[in-house]
Amino acid sequence: SAEDSMVVIVLGASGDLAFKKTYPALFGLYKNSFLPPNTDIVGYARSHIELDEFRKRISSRIKVNNEKEQQQLKEFLAKCTYVSGSYDDAKSFKKLNDAVDDIQKRVGGYRHRVFYMALPPSVFIPASKGLREHVYTRKGNNRLIVEKPFGKDTESSKELGHALAQHWLEDEIYRIDHYLGKEMVKNLMILRFANVFFGAVWNRQYIHNVQITFKEPIGTQGRGGYFDEFGIIRDIMQNHLLQILSIVAMEKPVTLDAEDVRNEKVKVLRAIQPLTVDDVLLGQYTGSPDGKEPGYLEDKGVPKDSVTPTFAAAVFYIKSERWDGVPFILKCGKALDQQKTEIRVQFQDVAGNIYPNIARNELVVRVQPEEAVYMKFMNKKPGLSSAAVTSELDLSYAKRYQDVKIPDAYESLILDVLKGDKANFVRDDELDAAWKIFTPLLHQIEREKIKPEQYAFGSRGPAGLNAFVEKHGYRRDAGY
Ligand code: BG6
Repeated sequence: SAEDSMVVIVLGASGDLAFKKTYPALFGLYKNSFLPPNTDIVGYARSHIELDEFRKRISSRIKVNNEKEQQQLKEFLAKCTYVSGSYDDAKSFKKLNDAVDDIQKRVGGYRHRVFYMALPPSVFIPASKGLREHVYTRKGNNRLIVEKPFGKDTESSKELGHALAQHWLEDEIYRIDHYLGKEMVKNLMILRFANVFFGAVWNRQYIHNVQITFKEPIGTQGRGGYFDEFGIIRDIMQNHLLQILSIVAMEKPVTLDAEDVRNEKVKVLRAIQPLTVDDVLLGQYTGSPDGKEPGYLEDKGVPKDSVTPTFAAAVFYIKSERWDGVPFILKCGKALDQQKTEIRVQFQDVAGNIYPNIARNELVVRVQPEEAVYMKFMNKKPGLSSAAVTSELDLSYAKRYQDVKIPDAYESLILDVLKGDKANFVRDDELDAAWKIFTPLLHQIEREKIKPEQYAFGSRGPAGLNAFVEKHGYRRDAGY
């Protein structure tokens, strides 16, 4: 019914993020019947593009696998329209509002409007103001989806937050961290809180250390100009990895309601001391040894003397009864040997051990690629030997859930917005607490121009990495 219907308004509709992520995600939802009936999608951006051309561009980024999907894509494209206009001018926004109203009249009254801001930070504030003043509806909910960067440090993030809060209520704002939409990140709470045998050992008595790792085999690929202003700590660690950490470490929320969940996450963040330079290892990639891949400083947008890190490892301590003294080691880097995001929980040594050469237990949650949960444990070597060997209990999704297609993170998150569920979105106080952990360090790195260690494109990272991880307690292999 019209009661359930929605208009999704994509701001920055002619940009990379919209074509790469937003529209394909919306199509994914449509295809699987998750878009409410009578949903329409209005794109908005500065460029003048003919509707046909716009739809062609949308479809060029969407893969269809069969005739049925081809037909669905046609239906989906028919829902997509486009309005051009600027981000700081009332007239343009009124034109957008008229277009949305027209659709509304045709269908007979929309309730909700979702505004997806796929926009660069420079136009963020004027656009959010224009939308609030001219495109806001009184007949239903208004939801504003925003993407990082949410500032560069505590202060700039606060400024941005205040500017946004002049026009929008916190309740209407959905801050995306797309890692919170990934299947295995969404799985973490169930693993912890719906299993006796994980829940029981999830504390400093049984867990020795936790590593959360993000690796990417690609460099900045011409995006260096943008990246150089931020660096890997802001690009990945302060948001994606710290969000994962907060779910790994949080106490059990009272209920699954968004506010209960986020109350617990923010407590973890507030219990972490700000980082200092002694807690981190920084790296920057050089060209690959075969000369095929360029170094970071060769990216056109990057200043030749840039000290911006493209790799960072850092150790965090959470001052709480559960985690006191347990190192959480976060690592992230571009231009490394592979793509991999994983969470590795390493358990304590066996007390009073009687076996030679045993390794610590580990629980690994592989976020990507090839989603998996596996447990490394000691087992008797089969046969006439009585040695203990490391073995694995392995839940590989591709094997175990063969018929399930894991949705893209954006699909899952946009669906949450349509439902009004904010549990997987970042609250303002979480964002503030996250910035407070990193701001002194970031300022010091920039003030003192601290030089990152070099590592070759395609390598495992800076040479000091193993020593760093071991210094903070991770034990690579058997033997104690
Ligand atoms: C983005 C970063 O937030 O995440 C990019 O800005 C990075 O630099 C990307 O490549 C990684 O996301 P994913 O989903 O491909 O792991």
